[in-house]
Amino acid sequence: MSDSLAAVRRAAASLVCVAAVAGSASAGAAPMPPQMGFNNWNSTHCRDEFDEAMIRGIADKFISLGLKDAGYRYVNIDDCWANWQRGADGSLQPNPKRFPGGIKALADYIHQHGLKFGLYSSAGSSTCEPLQENRGFPGGLGHEKQDAATFAAWGVDYLKYDNCNNQKVDAHQRYTAMAEALRGSGRPIFYSMCEWGENKPWLWAGKPPVDAGSWRTTGDISDNYASMLKIFKQNVVLDSYARPGHWNDPDMLEVGNGGMSDVEYRSHFSLWAIMAAPLLIGTDLRTIKPDALQILLNKEVIAVDQDPLGVQGHQVRDADGVHVIVKPLKDGSRAVAVFNEGDSPRDVSVDAAELGLKAGHYHLHDLWQHSDAKGDGSIKLTLPAHATAMYRIGQR
Ligand code: GLA
Repeated sequence: MSDSLAAVRRAAASLVCVAAVAGSASAGAAPMPPQMGFNNWNSTHCRDEFDEAMIRGIADKFISLGLKDAGYRYVNIDDCWANWQRGADGSLQPNPKRFPGGIKALADYIHQHGLKFGLYSSAGSSTCEPLQENRGFPGGLGHEKQDAATFAAWGVDYLKYDNCNNQKVDAHQRYTAMAEALRGSGRPIFYSMCEWGENKPWLWAGKPPVDAGSWRTTGDISDNYASMLKIFKQNVVLDSYARPGHWNDPDMLEVGNGGMSDVEYRSHFSLWAIMAAPLLIGTDLRTIKPDALQILLNKEVIAVDQDPLGVQGHQVRDADGVHVIVKPLKDGSRAVAVFNEGDSPRDVSVDAAELGLKAGHYHLHDLWQHSDAKGDGSIKLTLPAHATAMYRIGQR
């Protein structure tokens, strides 16, 4: 094994401990890498198949498919989990058809797997889906303390807090109210803001009093290349606002849902990792195809996302459909993603100086081909349409 390959393997091995720290931290606690896990929304939306049997099955798959070993921790449920009405005491209730065993029992099941459990609500009078019979599911606006106490009692570890039906109340005020309620709940609960970038959350969401663990920077992703590309371009320029424990969130992964090619899904995963984005799997792991699973289990790419230095990659080139993004890593090496957004193959040359490398001898490890090369740090390659190559470049 070459030295650089050994270094990459070591980095991948240390990943498990790093992710465990992330899983136990709350908003405002010790620095932590981007959250990793699963959320059902991109695969099920509000359809009936979203129920407790499905989510238990997902938790089982975290273990049997090796996802827990790769660092994925959170099993999160999205909109449509709640009953139409609050209970007589004003507390949130689960939909009895979807979750007959209740949320606490589901959280317990997930915890028994050594995993963490996430729930969804909206900083509004009701959530986003669906206005069936003119009723939405109850939202958290004005109920923050009571809802945070319910979440804590159920064993919730993570809250995704959406932006629908917000009654035009100031966003800073709405997201601060829930942040304070979560902190006062007596349980560490990771705070994932989902405000779609409408009020430039990167300027305020990572600081007290909100102190969120992540904030959505864009509208919703869809399972197609154009959507993924648009969101990447909006998020990649926000690198200066991300820092350990406080991440830009370009929305959840679509890998495995069938609307993009494997080349495009590899680009999606590579770009999210180099942007230090949350890695939330959005496909049904009970039926995932081997090629998609292999993408999600690329531990060398995951190690880039989770690197303890905690820096979002910086775009050093955006020209003529070619993007070059560089992410400094804790061991002194750099991760580099080279992405061809265009519809035809491209010959691309990247100079070592463009990557910020001094003149010298470098090892270049290809994180998708798993091959090694030596050189002066420059890169020359032919990239197929929509493809991304990803490297770890260092002197060791
Ligand atoms: C919004 C969010 C999505 C999802 C849906 C659920 O659109 O941005 O991620 O949570 O609501 O209704």
